Amino acid sequence: MKKAISIFTVAAMTVTLLAGCGSSASGSTASTAPAATSETSTVTTTSTDAASIADSAAASTNVDLSKAKVGVCIYQFSDNFMTLFRNELEKYLVSKGFSKDNIEIVDGANDQATQTNQIQNFITEGVNVLIINPVNSSSASTITDMVVKANIPLVYINREPDADEEARWKDNNWNVTYVGCDAKQSGTFQGEIIADLGMDKLDMNKNGKVDYVMIEGDPENVDAQYRTEYSVKALEDAGLAVNKLDDEVGNWDQATAQQLVANALSQYGNDVEVVFCNNDAMALGALQSIQSAGRTVGKDIYLVGVDALSEALEDVQAGTMTGTVFNDHFAQSHSAAEAAINYITGAGNDHYIGCDYVKVTADNAQEILDKVK
Ligand code: BGC
Repeated sequence: MKKAISIFTVAAMTVTLLAGCGSSASGSTASTAPAATSETSTVTTTSTDAASIADSAAASTNVDLSKAKVGVCIYQFSDNFMTLFRNELEKYLVSKGFSKDNIEIVDGANDQATQTNQIQNFITEGVNVLIINPVNSSSASTITDMVVKANIPLVYINREPDADEEARWKDNNWNVTYVGCDAKQSGTFQGEIIADLGMDKLDMNKNGKVDYVMIEGDPENVDAQYRTEYSVKALEDAGLAVNKLDDEVGNWDQATAQQLVANALSQYGNDVEVVFCNNDAMALGALQSIQSAGRTVGKDIYLVGVDALSEALEDVQAGTMTGTVFNDHFAQSHSAAEAAINYITGAGNDHYIGCDYVKVTADNAQEILDKVK
């Protein structure tokens, strides 16, 4: 994302950071949060991207990131994908000059009340910025209200709040942003991986349709909703008729998915041609049941996930998974950190910071594996 920024704007922002009022480059109000140590100085940068704006603003205004406190709320530590995300986030924040001791990452244990308490504690502590992966996206308006009232800038990650909530940030010029990828794209890529196989391979029971089982993540999460919808839509858009045999909620969890797919296979047997899983953890569970049922991926059944966990990538390479979709936790965690820096330095952010998913099949699994390993 390219932004232009002038000497005067940065100087104004720096003053803002010290004075606690004013405007920002992106049109959102500048940070009125408890500021990290900072002092005004001249800026020489004229135009650059978000990452180097933060770099130059931090350097030029002497905002001492090592003194800045970051509160990070993760919905659940046991989630495989969010573990990759949070580890990379911490590593990247440290590489940008934050002190490890000032980065506090807490486990919401998949309970909104627990997480809301943790947010309250961070507010009391006076952190400079909050990065929040909400337990329930539907609680975002309550969370936003608490955090904005405390004048702390807020970066939502991974679980996107709804359009009405995002509109409020813009309408009120609040220092609130969302960092994430477009879930519709991940669903579309899953569907395309399957559609590209062609009806000859897919329609093994010759009923003229692709008979599938869908294993969904948390149904409250837009990632689950859109992946479910857009994977099937991509098959239909490719002109393939579809038949939903089963659609179950696996809550992103491997063991749950394993059980659900075992049930579906025993109920529908060889009619199951494709298993769609909203994430790789569940696809790995599905694979265990597929193999126990004596079925062979790539031969008499097809299986796709999302995330590109390294274990899933190895399965894609080996042909034991048809494909996956890389959910780029590097890009997302780095953008979240940059957004946090931009708030701390006063550079501000757009209210939505996106990224792209990458379709993964046996053709590029090694390339993605090299990135994630
Ligand atoms: C990932 C899932 C993860 C979920 C957590 C999704 O984007 O694909 O693996 O469980 O985020 O919210």
